[in-house]
Amino acid sequence: MTDLHARLDELKQLGLHRRMRMVSGPQGPRVVLDGKPVLLLCSNNYLGLADHPRVREAAADAAMRWGVGSGASRLVSGTMTIHRRLEERLAEFKGSEACLLFGSGYLANAGIVGALAGRDEVVFSDELNHASIVDGCRLARAEVFVYDHGDVDHLEWGLSQAHGRGALIVTDGVFSMDGDVAPLAEIVELARRYDVRVMVDEAHGTGTVGPAGRGAVAEAGVGDEVDVIVGTLGKALGSYGAYACCSAELVAWLTNAARTLIYSTAPPPPAMAGALAALELLAEEPRRVERLQRNARVLRDELAREGWDTAGSSTHIMPLIVGDAELAVRMAEAAIDRGVFAQAIRPPTVAEGTSRLRVAVMATHGRDELRQAARVLARAALKVGVRPAAVAPLAAVQSTRAGLGRPFDVEAPEPARRAA
Ligand SMILES: Cc1ncc(COP(=O)(O)O)c(C=O)c1O
Repeated sequence: MTDLHARLDELKQLGLHRRMRMVSGPQGPRVVLDGKPVLLLCSNNYLGLADHPRVREAAADAAMRWGVGSGASRLVSGTMTIHRRLEERLAEFKGSEACLLFGSGYLANAGIVGALAGRDEVVFSDELNHASIVDGCRLARAEVFVYDHGDVDHLEWGLSQAHGRGALIVTDGVFSMDGDVAPLAEIVELARRYDVRVMVDEAHGTGTVGPAGRGAVAEAGVGDEVDVIVGTLGKALGSYGAYACCSAELVAWLTNAARTLIYSTAPPPPAMAGALAALELLAEEPRRVERLQRNARVLRDELAREGWDTAGSSTHIMPLIVGDAELAVRMAEAAIDRGVFAQAIRPPTVAEGTSRLRVAVMATHGRDELRQAARVLARAALKVGVRPAAVAPLAAVQSTRAGLGRPFDVEAPEPARRAA
């Protein structure tokens, strides 16, 4: 039996121990954190919709009309009208034929990968994909080829080795801890050539990038060639739950094969109504997305002025790579002391040696607040002895593939992989 006390001590010694902090009030641009007022720079409430009056009201009305819980899996006690309405609206938003709701983004990814790839098949997964995709790969029991982050040459090499067993390429659209965007045009081109499906997780792209916040897939203009777009309702859309936008046939298949849909209670009506209201607001007020993008530019420029290389981020998510896990925690604490809450992200969420503060901008931040935050982060770095300019940008940090399933047993010869 695992000695939990010893394991927790070990985590503390390695700087990897996690604990929850108490936030009072909603996820606004400013919160009270463990009793201290701070600027919130690590929430995924990107558009400020989680606490928008219309979203709150819609959720409250839905609770009165349909109740709080949905009672059972939709395959057991029937789908509710609010689920269907939201699916229709999401399909329209993403330009897909159909849509299927899931309990959360984690459940969607964990269930869909296995529904689209089985034992004798191969899944191709970017090495920086979210943990829910990694777990989906594990559950699928397919062979997993983990390609170097965003490296289409490496991906192509993997596809060429699969000899017809390739089933699925899966990637984040906007990467959750790095804020860069997957090379989607090249990925769909390879998928077409090697006859495999493509699944893109738009958890951080929906509401934040692309025309009217439709996501990275829409931005790349490849909506017709991506088989499944997954997204969460829990980030820019301010609610909870998730969706898969795809063909009607794929929806029918997932309804029969995605175990995390079949064996889990349907998402609650208030969350569905909240997401519907958020989608309405997104359509009515496209300037929210523009404000988010403008705020991201303001903060990125200010951080650059302070010497930070934000490692290829082009979006509202920016990694301040520190390297050492304990140092990242100390820097985050020093920033909180000075009034800015940016969470330290450590292994296993990110690779060894790439611990960081993950900074996430919201549309509701003020420009001056962001300028001030950049200065606070610089002072926090100085306080703990991190010199931004001296930290290797992400691309130069050796990645690890620990825990990402079983890559092919043949490694690509280095020169061929790196030739282009
Ligand atoms: C890229 C990505 N996919 C999926 C998820 C999971 O979504 P949810 O929070 O709805 O479970 C997250 C984060 O939570 C994420 O960052």
